[in-house]
Amino acid sequence: MASNKLIFFLVLFTISIASSASTTSSTTANKLSSFNVVKFGAKADGKTDSTGAFLKAWAAACNSLSPPRLYVPRGTYLIKRLELRGPCKSTSRTTVQIDGTLVAPSDYHQLGNSGNLLLFVKISGLSVIGGTIDARGAAYWGCTRNCPPGARSITFNSVRNLVVSGLMLINSQVSHMVISGCTNAVVSRVKIIAPDQSPNTDGIHIQTSTGVTIKDSVIRTGDDCISIGPGTKKLLIQGISCGPGHGISIGSLARDVKEEGVEDVTVKNVSFSGSDNGLRIKSWARPSNGYVRGVTYHDITMNNVKNPIIIDQRYCPEGRGCPNQSSGIKISQVTYRNIRGTSATPVAVNFQCSATNPCIGIRLQNVKLGYSNSGAKSSCVHAHGTSSGVVAPASCF
Ligand SMILES: *[C@@H]1O[C@H](CO)[C@@H](O)[C@H](O)[C@H]1NC(C)=O
Ligand SMILES: *[C@@H]1O[C@H](CO)[C@@H](O)[C@H](O)[C@H]1NC(C)=O
Repeated sequence: MASNKLIFFLVLFTISIASSASTTSSTTANKLSSFNVVKFGAKADGKTDSTGAFLKAWAAACNSLSPPRLYVPRGTYLIKRLELRGPCKSTSRTTVQIDGTLVAPSDYHQLGNSGNLLLFVKISGLSVIGGTIDARGAAYWGCTRNCPPGARSITFNSVRNLVVSGLMLINSQVSHMVISGCTNAVVSRVKIIAPDQSPNTDGIHIQTSTGVTIKDSVIRTGDDCISIGPGTKKLLIQGISCGPGHGISIGSLARDVKEEGVEDVTVKNVSFSGSDNGLRIKSWARPSNGYVRGVTYHDITMNNVKNPIIIDQRYCPEGRGCPNQSSGIKISQVTYRNIRGTSATPVAVNFQCSATNPCIGIRLQNVKLGYSNSGAKSSCVHAHGTSSGVVAPASCF
């Protein structure tokens, strides 16, 4: 039949294109359209700027009609502001397989003002598998004058059906990974490492995205392990080891008066160790139409965490820009279940909610947090909810 012939022709056509552009390892059918960056001129010496070669390899992969794979072999590749844009031609998922390490230039000025080291934009179906990105952020952290905006190590902007697995991120200048404007993403087995005192080095920041899962990962940085910004819906976080760092934070919210809400967030099977916060919700003490609703935290362990459970709606550094000292963010339906471990300060459970928008529907179920020999305390301001099971310190609703 005509359509069968057409398909047969397309298959042959695809194989012939793919084999002309493919790598040496492309012998089996599933690797037909592999685009090796070295074939496009990338140098695995850690010194030669390989940005142009990566861009050429990406252009070829993204134009491929058969399932494309961008391949980065072992070795160290220097890149600067690498922007990989879709949409790609293939209707299949585009895979970026990284066996090597990408490094940023040692002089951070060479990244200009772009704000990103590696940026993926407008791609439907993307997998990033393996690899290490070493952003060499230390010099940037020390910058005090005429500092450019820091570069995030890897950003996904407007990507649908994203998979990130086995990636290691080291010493980002600012946030290590940003997921923004994305739909359906699964990030697993990532390792994110930066020193305890490195400023603004969030592990993973998510905003304006629906259907994101972050799982089975280790995050130790100088800022939030995971930060959750406005417009995050249907987020699942599970199997994370967090700390040192600032914990898992929803916020800061109320940055803007008009702001999208955060809803349907589950955080489970997470362990915090030596972090400043555990489970935090944080908003500026100023007007906003934003909200946080439907958040469940369960099966969480805390080891020497300064603020294991905290809602802080009083955030206003230097007292500027908060005319009425009251947050417009409406917080409701937040459940804490099976939370145990140790606090590094006396107040283990701290709900400081907004006078104009009290927190409602907070539930504590089987929460057991200790502090040295004297026992931990809880503190509530404008917070309403219920407690059940063993709750220690006793709730203050
Ligand atoms: C909890 O997460 C760890 C990874 O941090 C994983 O190894 C373990 O299997 C998870 N346990 C459950 C019950 O999901
Ligand atoms: C702030 O307070 C002033 C005076 O109390 C009031 O008129 C104004 O509406 C308040 N603004 C907001 C955004 O709540």
